[in-house]
Amino acid sequence: MATLLLTNIGQLTTVDAKGRVLEDAAVLIEDGLVAWIGNMAHAPAAGHEIDLGGRAVLPGWVDSHSHLIFGGDRAEEFVARMAGQSYAAGGIAVTTSATGQLSDKALADLVADRRREALAMGTTWMETKTGYGLALEEETRHSVLGKPLVDSLTFLGAHLVPAGWDADDYTDLVTGPMLDAVAAYVDFVDVFCERGAFTEEQSRRVLDAARNKGLATKVHGNQLGPGPGVKLAVEFGSHSVDHVNYLDDQDLQALAGSWAGWDTATRTGTAGTVATCLPACDLSTRQPLAPGRALLDAGVRIALASNCNPGTSYTSNMNFCVATAVLQMDLTLAEAIEAATYGGALALGVADQVGSIEIGKRADLHVLDAPVAAHLAYRPGMNLTHSVYRAGKAI
Ligand code: NIG
Repeated sequence: MATLLLTNIGQLTTVDAKGRVLEDAAVLIEDGLVAWIGNMAHAPAAGHEIDLGGRAVLPGWVDSHSHLIFGGDRAEEFVARMAGQSYAAGGIAVTTSATGQLSDKALADLVADRRREALAMGTTWMETKTGYGLALEEETRHSVLGKPLVDSLTFLGAHLVPAGWDADDYTDLVTGPMLDAVAAYVDFVDVFCERGAFTEEQSRRVLDAARNKGLATKVHGNQLGPGPGVKLAVEFGSHSVDHVNYLDDQDLQALAGSWAGWDTATRTGTAGTVATCLPACDLSTRQPLAPGRALLDAGVRIALASNCNPGTSYTSNMNFCVATAVLQMDLTLAEAIEAATYGGALALGVADQVGSIEIGKRADLHVLDAPVAAHLAYRPGMNLTHSVYRAGKAI
């Protein structure tokens, strides 16, 4: 049995149900899983030992929303936006065209590079989506090549209605032949329910088709204005609704109601729909930041994710997202860390495996070049990732 002891941890943020933060701690890893946690003075012997020099350790980030399968760059669109133009979903077509020109190898290399980049910044579990294919062959190609490169894969054929298509006909394609072709490769089905993308009725058809296939769902909702996305996600029991910038009281109540069967103190019961906040995207599109504070106060479980994509959020830096959530969304440091780890794991249905440092869970650890995790927001913009362990292996 391979054992590794990480010792001399100045501060260990476990993100367990009790929110335990230990000082002068050690973590024993056995065959890639956490086997023991406690004060370093009482640590068991191990085959190999690494002294972390008093640094802070927290769970690896669980980034539950990204769009890594793309070619090209939209810096010009970004510059225009910073000069006052507003974001519209139409830019997705620019990326679709650039992506379609890449060979399988070129596209897979780009995705793998992006995944490595995120891992080096502490993201040990990463979801990504298709959605820049928007044609049967392309969405299938992206699903097949994306599958081995990330930890969770989401089918987002319903990202934009491609030029020349009638929206209902395209929804037929998404819910029929496309879904049939990608179902074996994907964990979730998602739909961009927004003005300029898919209507409530079309979104409902996508979610219904996913349910009939036994696939879990997600919704891009309430990003650019109020809309039916949140309520649809709750109605369909989706794992998450993402963006959530424009919420009314009914949206908050619907989300809170979905968590009625969940016991936060023990983390048992029936999980509801996670509200996934994407602060880097909100900044890059100059949208109001998602109301993370109000969501938490209403009893909703939230996630923080990067939404790395070339249009609205070209960063996979979760340290930045956490800092922004603390500095600008009124979250405490502990709440932001939990949202970016355990919250992401809930949004992906993998909270039994990752998202906290607990015995039996995968040993995904993020070591900071800082004595305490508070430095993530106290020293914003600094490169604070010292090292990363995924399933017990140093990256
Ligand atoms: O999550 N909202 C829809 N999809 C992406 C943006 C895609 C793009 O503009 O390329 C997002 O923000």
